[in-house]
Amino acid sequence: MSSRLPGFYKASLAERRRLLAEAVGLPVEAFAAVDPAALELAVADGMIENVIGTYALPFAVAVNFTVDGSDVVIPMAVEEPSIVAAASNAARMARPSGFVTTVSAPVMIGQIQITHVADVDAGVAAVKAAAGELVETARTTMPRMAERGGGPRALDVRMLTKTGPDGGVLVVHLHVDCRDAMGANLVNTLCEALADRVAAIAGGRPGLRILSNLTDGRMVTVRCSIPHAQLAGVSGDDGIIEGADVAAAIAAASRFAELDPYRAVTHNKGIMNGVDAVLVATGQDWRAVEAGAHAFACRAGSYRPLAVWTDRTSALDGELVMPLAVGTVGGALLGHPSTRLALALAGVTHADRLTALAAAAGLATNLAALRALATEGIQKGHMALHARKLARMVKETP
Ligand code: MEV
Repeated sequence: MSSRLPGFYKASLAERRRLLAEAVGLPVEAFAAVDPAALELAVADGMIENVIGTYALPFAVAVNFTVDGSDVVIPMAVEEPSIVAAASNAARMARPSGFVTTVSAPVMIGQIQITHVADVDAGVAAVKAAAGELVETARTTMPRMAERGGGPRALDVRMLTKTGPDGGVLVVHLHVDCRDAMGANLVNTLCEALADRVAAIAGGRPGLRILSNLTDGRMVTVRCSIPHAQLAGVSGDDGIIEGADVAAAIAAASRFAELDPYRAVTHNKGIMNGVDAVLVATGQDWRAVEAGAHAFACRAGSYRPLAVWTDRTSALDGELVMPLAVGTVGGALLGHPSTRLALALAGVTHADRLTALAAAAGLATNLAALRALATEGIQKGHMALHARKLARMVKETP
């Protein structure tokens, strides 16, 4: 399929459904899954507590994307105007190289806290010596996971403190390959199963047993290379800016984010505009990804940009590196009809492809934001969209 759907944004909603159905090979009736009442009240009532209704968001697709050599439409659920247009425009500029990703093995970390350890050094040494046995025990707890090529991989231990209100404290990390699951339930179950044994080996008491959302064992890298010619734009006073100058300005904006945490946060917000929109559309735990992304951005001791842009002789190169834990099996929202449609539209059957798409969307929205900031400023596009919204509201007012 081709993700180039010229004029898609200008078509009516019904026409967009028809064009998309044709492009991805789904019946047009499938779009009932994103009609306003797609999530039935009875289903919603079973999902969380104290339910009084459901909450809808606009559901769209970003077009023009090529990710790892294949064209794909990217589902996005988000309230902010211009994110979908920005992603689609950036994806068009990136088409010569496409987005190229490297997705790590889906290894999550489970933490077991051990408190009141009388001799912390001896406790650490004892857990280290028993690591093989503990991983084996964890593996037998989840035999089906191991059969699917996943399951517990390794175990390590760190001293946190020798003295304090909780006595000697150490933390054990269990590394678990979760395959296509996000893995929270799986990892928590394993940590709970191992905690007593670990505490006995360490000579302390079991404390918390829970996965870490700093999923630095589950990483994605996405790169693209934009020929200068693709970047030419319009300046604030309506003059033309050459592509090479736009590339230089984007690289300077990237360096600004590397130097200043106040800017880096906003730069990363522009990345999460794309990432989160995909995560929401596909029913993922976006709070977990957000928490991990920002912690990772601080790993060097100060808050840094997750993506950087470097100007080369005739192209601008972008690279985004971030932790990104998603699942295509087992999640609370994977039974949601809109989520199922989102995955079908993007042709996603495995978590690693969803990771690649969310990250590509993030690099695309980052590029679009920096290009707008480096040329005509962000307000012009925003204001045009607001004007469109106002015009529609006026038209619809009786
Ligand atoms: C707005 O949602 C996102 C931006 O502020 C990102 C950025 O400044 O890079 C435009």
